[in-house]
Amino acid sequence: MSAQPGSVRFPNGFLWGTKTAAYQVEGSVDVDGRGPSIWDTFSHHAGATRNGDTGDVACDHYRRMDEDLDLLAALGAPAYCFSVAWPRVQPSGSGALNQQGLDFYRRLVDGLLRRSIVPVVTLYHWDLPQALEDAGGWVSRDTVGRFSEYTRIVAGTLGDSVRMWITLNEPWCSAWLGYGTGEHAPGVRDHGKAAAATHHLLLAHGEAVNVLRATIPNASVGIGLNLQPVRPATDHDDDRAACHRVDGNLNRLFLDPIFTGRYPADMLEHYAGLQPGFDVVAEGDLEVIRTPIDFLGVNFYFPITVCAPARRAEARAAGYWIPETERRGRIGDLDAVQVLRAEVSRTQMGWEIEPAALTEILVRVRDQYASLPLYVSENGAAFDDYIGPDGEVHDADRIAYLDGHLRAVLDALDAGVDMRGYFVWSILDNFEWGHGYSKRFGLTWVDYPTGRRLPKSSFAWYRQTVRANGLER
Ligand code: FCB
Repeated sequence: MSAQPGSVRFPNGFLWGTKTAAYQVEGSVDVDGRGPSIWDTFSHHAGATRNGDTGDVACDHYRRMDEDLDLLAALGAPAYCFSVAWPRVQPSGSGALNQQGLDFYRRLVDGLLRRSIVPVVTLYHWDLPQALEDAGGWVSRDTVGRFSEYTRIVAGTLGDSVRMWITLNEPWCSAWLGYGTGEHAPGVRDHGKAAAATHHLLLAHGEAVNVLRATIPNASVGIGLNLQPVRPATDHDDDRAACHRVDGNLNRLFLDPIFTGRYPADMLEHYAGLQPGFDVVAEGDLEVIRTPIDFLGVNFYFPITVCAPARRAEARAAGYWIPETERRGRIGDLDAVQVLRAEVSRTQMGWEIEPAALTEILVRVRDQYASLPLYVSENGAAFDDYIGPDGEVHDADRIAYLDGHLRAVLDALDAGVDMRGYFVWSILDNFEWGHGYSKRFGLTWVDYPTGRRLPKSSFAWYRQTVRANGLER
């Protein structure tokens, strides 16, 4: 891969981009006919988000779209991935479409194309129309049909200009944070419902793949999964069993049905007896879920280490740190405890920084599932950014994080993995869900009172990386 001495290069045509999600950037939640989503409801609920932050204004991207398009052009990355807000397109999640909502995305796509930027569309990044949640949300099978209808509308409108589609972003988060731990909208705490939601989300994905293919002849369709290596704190059987359960929930529960058409037996057993639960699976569903996809999007942030709950003391003795207030977070009811390695640095989210874990998960997908084209569809980090006395944001830690993870992608390429592109989360600081505006992931600083955009040092660094199609050695 190395071309000129002194630098390492990515393959020709490697797709560089950045990514956002509608609710995190758009604001303007009640204009031009948009209906409420579960995130509007949830974020307005006392105590649901840090500081009571909501996406009401966010980055004001709905009104500042032209400025943001120019920002993307200045960055020079050839692709941009955004999500369509279902409640803008179908305010109540079914029935008549809202032309004004669709027009916004038409203008966005046209603006990207005018600047020679490839639009990549995510159909669902967590903002379910509230009316559908009132009717059962993802726990209800009806939502699957509604999603197909919505997909048909969006594909019919943008399909002439958009080739690359991501059906769902991180269905694990929608199901297990939304209906399991309740940390995300709609804030339900019921693991049986999370299991049912998992299945309906995956079924909605499979059906959407078929709808997209039927509507857009040359469509390239994939899904974005949050994947992460899970390791046992020690070699003890109980820690290894805890690790296997967490891996089952986070990774295998999604990869197995999509690539093999089966749910992992140990997970079906773990969740057996819950009402609802995986008993919502009907004949033929898994055939739909395993409909071949053209690519897999891997959203990667951090690896995770776990121990069995009864082995906290041994884990501490082995040098791990267990935060006083254990967040249920990624673990749900898996009879496991997340532990942290004291010697590994973490981002502002508390996420361990280990680029090699990205290589590991990419290689695993290829070895255990399929050797299809892969994209890193999200990667990035929040740090304690601030505007320095010189008026600039010198985010050297973000540059180091991105640089390290890009080298991990190169390692995956060297291992023969079919890596096709990389998307930084995110072009802008934005509404980080339950964390509100307290966590900044952007290549661009957003001054929330005024909405002013200020590219950080990482913006210039990424522009240079994209231009060189490579990194300094
Ligand atoms: C991912 C989400 C994205 C963003 C990043 C930091 O899980 O898909 O919206 O919040 O994390």
